[in-house]
Amino acid sequence: MNFHNIKLNRIQIDKHSQVTVSKKRLILSFNLHINNSKNKKSLILCYFFPIYLIHFTCMLPVYRKMSIQKLSLTTLTCFTLLLIIRVDSTQPPFSCDSSEPSTKSYTFCKTTLPTSQRVRDLVSRLTLDEKISQLVNSAPPIPRLGIPGYEWWSEALHGVANAGRGIRFNGTIKGATTFPQVILTAASFDSYMWYRIGQAIGTEARAMYNAGEATGMTFWAPNINIFRDPRWGRGQETPGEDPLVSGKYSVSFVRGVQGDTFEGGKLKGHLQASACCKHFTAYDLDRWKGTTRYKFDARVTPQDLADTYQPPFESCVKQGSASGIMCAYNRVNGVPSCADYNLLTKTARGLWGFHGYITSDCDAVSIIYDAQGYVKSPEDAVVDVLKAGMDVNCGSYLQKHTKSAVEQKKLPESEIDRALHNLFSIRMRLGLFDGNPSNQPFGIVGTDHICSPAHQVLALQSAQDGIVLLKNSDRRLPLPKSKSMSLAVIGPNANSAFTLLGNYAGPACNSITLLQAIQNYVKGTVYDPGCDTVVCSSASIDKAVGIAKEVDHVVLIMGLDQTQEREDFDRVDLVLPGKQQELITSVAKAAKKPVILVLLCGGPVDISFAKYDHNIGSILWAGYPGEAGGIALAEIIFGDHNPGGRLPMTWYPRDYVKVAMTDMRMRPQPTSGYPGRTYRFYEGQKVFEFGYGLSYSKYSYKLKHVKANKLYLNQSSSVKMVENEQTVNYKSVSELGTEFCENNKFSVTVRVKNHGEMAGKHPVLLFLKPGKKENGRPIKQLVGFQSVILRAEEKAEIDFELNPCEHLSRATENGLMVMEEGTHLLVVGDEEYPITIVF
Ligand SMILES: *[C@@H]1O[C@H](CO)[C@@H](O)[C@H](O)[C@H]1NC(C)=O
Ligand SMILES: *[C@@H]1O[C@H](CO)[C@@H](O)[C@H](O)[C@H]1NC(C)=O
Repeated sequence: MNFHNIKLNRIQIDKHSQVTVSKKRLILSFNLHINNSKNKKSLILCYFFPIYLIHFTCMLPVYRKMSIQKLSLTTLTCFTLLLIIRVDSTQPPFSCDSSEPSTKSYTFCKTTLPTSQRVRDLVSRLTLDEKISQLVNSAPPIPRLGIPGYEWWSEALHGVANAGRGIRFNGTIKGATTFPQVILTAASFDSYMWYRIGQAIGTEARAMYNAGEATGMTFWAPNINIFRDPRWGRGQETPGEDPLVSGKYSVSFVRGVQGDTFEGGKLKGHLQASACCKHFTAYDLDRWKGTTRYKFDARVTPQDLADTYQPPFESCVKQGSASGIMCAYNRVNGVPSCADYNLLTKTARGLWGFHGYITSDCDAVSIIYDAQGYVKSPEDAVVDVLKAGMDVNCGSYLQKHTKSAVEQKKLPESEIDRALHNLFSIRMRLGLFDGNPSNQPFGIVGTDHICSPAHQVLALQSAQDGIVLLKNSDRRLPLPKSKSMSLAVIGPNANSAFTLLGNYAGPACNSITLLQAIQNYVKGTVYDPGCDTVVCSSASIDKAVGIAKEVDHVVLIMGLDQTQEREDFDRVDLVLPGKQQELITSVAKAAKKPVILVLLCGGPVDISFAKYDHNIGSILWAGYPGEAGGIALAEIIFGDHNPGGRLPMTWYPRDYVKVAMTDMRMRPQPTSGYPGRTYRFYEGQKVFEFGYGLSYSKYSYKLKHVKANKLYLNQSSSVKMVENEQTVNYKSVSELGTEFCENNKFSVTVRVKNHGEMAGKHPVLLFLKPGKKENGRPIKQLVGFQSVILRAEEKAEIDFELNPCEHLSRATENGLMVMEEGTHLLVVGDEEYPITIVF
């Protein structure tokens, strides 16, 4: 609050003081000097020049032997000047200051004109060198036009983070709300929750910028690649393996971050902060047995591309109105993503109507020449990416090689202008060319939002709603809240607040370990880590067994951490590291009662041994639950919260690793023993399946009502045949047209009842089973999900609205989305309902 007031006061000074104007120029050119300084000498000169200038101004009257009154007045002025400069160090940089005379002459400063016209004017004023300087993530200032520097690279995957360059947390703001890692948030199957998380992140991000503690507002999140293989080190960052879930997650998150409403479409171009759909496309391998993402060529079929890899991006762009896309490191069918005109320009901009900026992943341009050898020279790499439609390079490659590409006449300057147009449009939409930010809707967001009580509650709720109960034999959980009982916590993941956060996390507002949270319930809790680290190459099994024998209840807190799964590091197996399993089994055997096993991990682990061990009563999966995750878990363990999360990905048995991680095929190929991937195509054994999750309550479903269980496609004449065992009639979705699709939307009503003794939040998942098998049809496909809160014994009816073209269609081998005649089944729980498409 205080900070906010100071800011407003200062702004008033700004408006009426010429001093501020010249000082701002000073700071601007000072920054430029620092950025360009080649040696220490010039750096020192730059640093002391302003101080010298002030000193000289202040001391001048003294030299002239002025009167005491005049002297004191000058001293006051001098102090004010110093004060303003001090306060101004937290001024967010912006262009088009209304007190700056040149502002009036710049068309790009005229806020009444359309953005595109303003941007055209701005770009037309730049020299070639200035233009090239803007094509990299750290864009330097252009002092002669009053344009400050801008940092394109900031991260906010599940909270404002310091993983990029634009946010440091080295000023007065020391932390931001750190929500659960995305894979756990996904398990709540609650799009409104995802929206509110995005909203909180966008608000905190904007507040940091307004406070002058961020140098950019373009955040490179969400990560919406399909969690295709359980070994992927970055699977934790994603909303899981289902394209519908990933798509809906992206839409909700992006709308929240960018400042739109939950329903969307209300922004009118303005941006609270900018979100970015990444990594475009088919990126889901980091480093596995010698294959790196930098060199990997993902061989993807048109069918898999159409119904698995692309849909989340299409949603992110079309419904989410994301203002950014990041092209991936990997190649797709031979072409580097960042050099793929078909992908960036034809598909994203053309087909999906994307109008934002496209950034490369960091150094993803240099690798096109260096690692992939896809082109013959660095200049060719630059030409390829700019012609493909990429706009900014994370790295410095475009800064280094664009000039020579122009000089060699390989690159027309118009390609650079095209990119700059997209880049400056975003900066304008963020309000950075509208003069003083405090005059704009998002310019007054204050730092009181950062780590606010409301955001802390949201961090707790999202952890509570995501955590999945995987096993609960004989209702072992919840534990009684008894003051007299004895309890032991064992495991290497029990006492680390850092592990709770996962990757791409910033410093959190609060830090409470799971152990501390449990100790709040049971004072005398005994603790032993059991293993040296999560790697658990050495375990103190005897000691842990000794402890377990003495207490009433044992909670084991095991799993993975970032040493086992992370960016640039995929797993090679699916089991718990080192001696973890041995420790768990031994402790469970020795304990008086069946133990509670808590797993912290992003990717799935084969814990079949624990699933079938009678000495293990309950199992909870908590992903990486964020800064409030310890409290959420303790509340679930002691019955203050009823768990309701459901798995957003398949848990495969350990022998799944015989499948090459490099095999991108979603569909199985029985002849070669290839099992396929995810619940939509994999029919093999599972440890836990997609959507699995228990609760302290039991819920029942009744598929009550389906409006229009027959859909007539006999309006248009274009019926095609496909040769199979039988002949199938189908029509392409694009031929049917959006009007037909809209007019034939139908609703499905499901009655849900909570049969338990506790209130609970329960996600209802609605699937579609295609009428026919094979030819690449999924086994089943999620078509809708909704979360409902029900008291004990309460029932409710929830409506799903289905769009036949979206939810009843399928991809042909050529990647064409079609609707087939025949009967499909809507499935919720054990309930099935036929729905027939008639030609
Ligand atoms: C924070 O870190 C950045 C980058 O290292 C630096 O430029 C900036 O001056 C630092 N800010 C403070 C207040 O220390
Ligand atoms: C489509 O079939 C239905 C049911 O047989 C019929 O009522 C309807 O008139 C048909 N529409 C057209 C355009 O043929």
